[in-house]
Amino acid sequence: MTPDDLKALVRTVPDFPEPGILFRDITTLIGHGAGLAACVGHLAERARSGGADLVAGMEARGFIFGAAVAARLELGFLPVRKPGKLPVPTIGVDYALEYGRDRLEIDPQAIRPGQNVVLVDDLIATGGTALAAAELLRRAGAIVTHALFVIDLPDLHGAARLRDAGIKVEALMD
Ligand code: PRP
Ligand code: ADE
Repeated sequence: MTPDDLKALVRTVPDFPEPGILFRDITTLIGHGAGLAACVGHLAERARSGGADLVAGMEARGFIFGAAVAARLELGFLPVRKPGKLPVPTIGVDYALEYGRDRLEIDPQAIRPGQNVVLVDDLIATGGTALAAAELLRRAGAIVTHALFVIDLPDLHGAARLRDAGIKVEALMD
């Protein structure tokens, strides 16, 4: 399936989780077997050409695509978690979302210095989540120069913020 076919599988829900937000829901895409497989295939192809040696995904929707991409490439997967979930000492960063604020944490021991880590998430909006994840991974010694998304919301300029931070951004659809 092409990225255009995949776009037709994304459901749009108005006014979720707040009035005025057009929520781009990937539930319908991942519920479609061929759609999920094609999505993972397109993302994995891009991760491979970027030379990644570890895949990081952001909780929760980034886990769905990130872990599948990692398995496809036989790479490890690093979960970038919401607060209080990891059972070991963590490093963390607070960030703003299109709708609210949150915090991400990682286990810094999960990174070998100089490892080339590709970020994977379902969607980039303001870029706050991806920038927070990149900051954490870099603090732990990773090289982060590539981020992959199923969906980019270009009006929120997240991709431009990532590029300013030295990160190449690729998305399967706008
Ligand atoms: C969503 C989405 C991205 C983030 C994008 O996650 O999955 O991670 O928002 O927004 P940003 O570019 O403005 O940071 P959310 O925090 O809603 O959590 P979820 O994956 O647990 O639903
Ligand atoms: N995360 C941030 N903004 C979003 C949106 N508009 N739809 C789905 N997920 C999001």
